[in-house]
Amino acid sequence: MCGIIAAASNRNVGKLLVQGLHKMEYRGYDSAGIALHQDDGIAHLRTLGKVQLLEEKMISEKPKSKLGIAHTRWATHGEPSETNAHPHKSQDSIYIVHNGIIENYVQLKEDLKQSGYEFLSQTDSELIAHLLDHYINQGQSMVEAMYAAKEKLEGAYAIAAIDIKDNTNLVIARNKSPLLIGIGADEMFAASDPLAIAQQTNDFIFLEDGDVAEISANTYKIFDKSKKEVVREITRINISAEATSKGEYRHYMEKEIYEQPEAVSNTIDGRIGGEDVLDNIFGLGSSDLFSKVRRIQIVACGTSLHAGRVAANWFSSIAELPCQIDYASEYRYRNPHVDEKSLLVTISQSGETADTLAALNYAKEKDYLSTLTICNVPTSSLARESDFSFFTNAGPEIGVASTKAFTTQLAALMLLALSLAKSRNLNPKLRGRVVQALRLLPETIAEALNSKDQMTEIAPDIANKDNALFLGRGIFYPIAKEGALKLKEISYIHAEAYPAGELKHGPLALIDENMPVIALAPESEIAEKLISNLEEVKARGGTLYVCADPSVNMDVKSGKLIHMPECDFFMSPIVYNIPLQILSYEVALLRGTDIDQPRNLAKSVTVE
Ligand code: M6R
Repeated sequence: MCGIIAAASNRNVGKLLVQGLHKMEYRGYDSAGIALHQDDGIAHLRTLGKVQLLEEKMISEKPKSKLGIAHTRWATHGEPSETNAHPHKSQDSIYIVHNGIIENYVQLKEDLKQSGYEFLSQTDSELIAHLLDHYINQGQSMVEAMYAAKEKLEGAYAIAAIDIKDNTNLVIARNKSPLLIGIGADEMFAASDPLAIAQQTNDFIFLEDGDVAEISANTYKIFDKSKKEVVREITRINISAEATSKGEYRHYMEKEIYEQPEAVSNTIDGRIGGEDVLDNIFGLGSSDLFSKVRRIQIVACGTSLHAGRVAANWFSSIAELPCQIDYASEYRYRNPHVDEKSLLVTISQSGETADTLAALNYAKEKDYLSTLTICNVPTSSLARESDFSFFTNAGPEIGVASTKAFTTQLAALMLLALSLAKSRNLNPKLRGRVVQALRLLPETIAEALNSKDQMTEIAPDIANKDNALFLGRGIFYPIAKEGALKLKEISYIHAEAYPAGELKHGPLALIDENMPVIALAPESEIAEKLISNLEEVKARGGTLYVCADPSVNMDVKSGKLIHMPECDFFMSPIVYNIPLQILSYEVALLRGTDIDQPRNLAKSVTVE
């Protein structure tokens, strides 16, 4: 997963291409590069590390150009290095940028070597430049060469290419990796994400799999997979500058944590009314469809999967439906049993996660009643490819660590549990109670954000440890898992989560004064049992940090008891997650890690 951007204009495009790369660093940030068409050849600049370093190189070399392509990389084939950074070239003539993976690259590379092409990088992408060069040398135009190359390429790709002999046009192609055209005034763009060019235009065309397009400053032509010229719909999207900047915050993650009350309001706004959820909020006909559902299958990855695990409890207790959950990367490989009354639900912030998309495509071949996606990006592939879509309306989430995306997914999944229950004529009183609690949720989250001072106090104790253990029971176990994921991904501290009752079956052996234990103790029917589990930790010298209901009082010795705002039990997993987000942020701050772009990760994982 990488970010690509291209521009053809009547003004210099170098600066705006680099600005676009900055906006797409969430897609990868181990190296970056640019190729700019100039009067005397192509300026080809690449740097190892973040886009900032490419920007510095641009400032010192000052290349001028009206046509160019650029790339920010997350390494798949070949280590992060300047040589492996894009754009890749063939014969100093064809330059390409690529996002995706070419699955049959070993064979294609061998064939091209036999034809005399020399490979300079270890990437799968470089061969695309050689393939294009090969076909262009046979007298084909760039568009024809792209089609010929596509016939050879297996896998996922978004490609942009320029030819030294043509200073007017660039050619792009899409297959299973996001790619769009941005239409400006006397200029055209292509990019992996509208965010990258949102400062230049609000008008976008989302290409479909198999499409090839030729772009110049004043015009564009799109051809479909059968090489026929087609007209694709223009979508207007207004992405405000405020939504994509850090504002007064130090990191996007910090901003996104504190935006959560508003984000959740946007998720529930217009979707509940009176004592109930409104009809058809998951799409026209969804209420009717939901009355036929007898089983839910969730597929998702990472944080989104944790949201699904919480929701499984709600589906059972509110909508009285069983729910199976799979890691999207595992789902296809276990030969899942599908019955025709099952609803397949994918959950994803980006809507572009390759494992989740692959799982959806597999599921579409099976006998599911229907497919629904809960995601944050209305223009995403998951949204386009699912029967029903529900958008969380959280606004752009840029920090790699998901925070507001998770919280709004939970709110959306609660709406789904309510809608299913309503369509099945179940539990009207309970629905009324939950709807009322949902209305109060933004306020309760705002109160939970006040735990910041306590988290800042605890953070030094955790920041100087190598490990941490998170404990929760029942519906709080996935929240403990999410807390552990957040801590490890941004602070690089090894963290694990357990259902508290499992402690005595093994992990208790890990407890000593170097193992901080972060526990979630809401008011529940098993609160007493949880407290006993925590006593076991205390007796072994473990330091306890307990987020608890105001009614819980226990002696945590040198640890800390943090009282959470009172809230309805159904909302409590959402509320108790908030201090865990703040804790990992504060710990990462102390450890001086790269919070918005943690090492080895990327926001949108578009490779399987
Ligand atoms: O965009 P998605 O929600 O599909 O992404 C899935 C995971 O990669 C993602 O949730 C990841 O685990 C989080 N960014 C971690 O904070």
